[in-house]
Amino acid sequence: MSSIVLGVSGGVAAYKAAFLLRAFTEAGHDVRVVPTPGALHFVGAATFEALSGNPVTTDVWSDVPDVAHVRIGQSADLVVVAPATADLLARAVAGRADDLLTATLLTAACPVVFVPAMHTEMWLHPATQDNVATLRRRGAVVLPPAVGRLTGPDSGPGRLPEPADIAALATVVLHHGAAALAHDLTGRRVLISAGGTREPLDPVRYLGNRSSGKQGWALARVAAARGAEVVLVAANVEAPAPFGVRTVPVGTAEELRTAMLAEAPDSDVVVMTAAVADFRPEDVALTKLKKGSAAEPTSVPLVRNPDVLAELVTKRTADQIVVGFAAETGDDDGDVLSHARAKLARKGCDFLVVNDVSAGQVFGRPDNTVVVLAADGSATEVPTGSKDAVAAGIWTAVSVALSPRSQG
Ligand code: CTP
Repeated sequence: MSSIVLGVSGGVAAYKAAFLLRAFTEAGHDVRVVPTPGALHFVGAATFEALSGNPVTTDVWSDVPDVAHVRIGQSADLVVVAPATADLLARAVAGRADDLLTATLLTAACPVVFVPAMHTEMWLHPATQDNVATLRRRGAVVLPPAVGRLTGPDSGPGRLPEPADIAALATVVLHHGAAALAHDLTGRRVLISAGGTREPLDPVRYLGNRSSGKQGWALARVAAARGAEVVLVAANVEAPAPFGVRTVPVGTAEELRTAMLAEAPDSDVVVMTAAVADFRPEDVALTKLKKGSAAEPTSVPLVRNPDVLAELVTKRTADQIVVGFAAETGDDDGDVLSHARAKLARKGCDFLVVNDVSAGQVFGRPDNTVVVLAADGSATEVPTGSKDAVAAGIWTAVSVALSPRSQG
């Protein structure tokens, strides 16, 4: 159990802090909510007290014998400020200590994650952008706001990301430090395929696979948090896009190929996490195949699907990095890593992320363990962790290979 301070500042998105609080307590953490006085205009202290089981105060004059304005920050393992308003960011940069939350930020020795939420104009204002850059330079993590509907009729960057996305990323920082969400992909465009293709047999049936898309989603979430512009080609995954990442929905391998080839030319990194069906039924019936009918199949002839990763490699642009994934099991011909090295050479990609799927590990599971093989022969083991933690390890291994030419 870790000790998390959840700072809440005064924006309408403060109501979502209650869901974030819930996610932290359900994961077993002890959460102390420290709202600003403005936050309590939106959500009552009683809500935060009931959900956290801890007292809630906003000023430095309560709990004086306990020196709360110093002790709360000192004893925290992680501080998350969500939502962080433009005013809160400015006060944090200035080192103000005019309420309990800003005093806590001055005494926190642990990693700090700010999750900004505000109107687009306020987010894009140079004052706010400078403040964000300052906080990042000082070592804090500042997540990008999601893009979408804001209060009233407005729409644009400034929305608070979904509490589940914030919780997933905050947990990575809790366990692996602020460096796991270093802002090293700024100015980069990243294209990721995720999910599993479905190859139709008739209007109601398909050949599919067990890929949940979770690892691809985590890669997209972490890349966005690290500053990248992300496009996610999603094969049959219904989950909402993290941080308003642009998604391109696809169904079959052929649709996935078309989408990837269209998006790839502008991308610095192309990542193929999707489980692409190697085969598809040779014929797709236009009407449902009925039992006992003349069309009842006795076998399903299959034809090969294109190898999208291999094609992306042959068409890659200068300095583009192509990353493949491989789910492997050992067998009589070799162990997991020897199969993976052969696949890396065969596909010609720059990196191959290897999952050991012996005995049903990985599919749909929250945790993952991978090895990142590089074309130069090196292998980086990413320790077991949440799929977001593994995604952070993969980006750390891959980002060092980005050409310094366009480094943001
Ligand atoms: N892949 C692809 N197109 C395919 C099959 C796979 O782009 N038709 C990509 C996957 O997205 C993944 C990588 O290739 O990044 C490895 O997938 P895998 O199925 O392990 O590779 P295969 O070449 O199909 O190897 P195997 O013979 O072991 O099935």
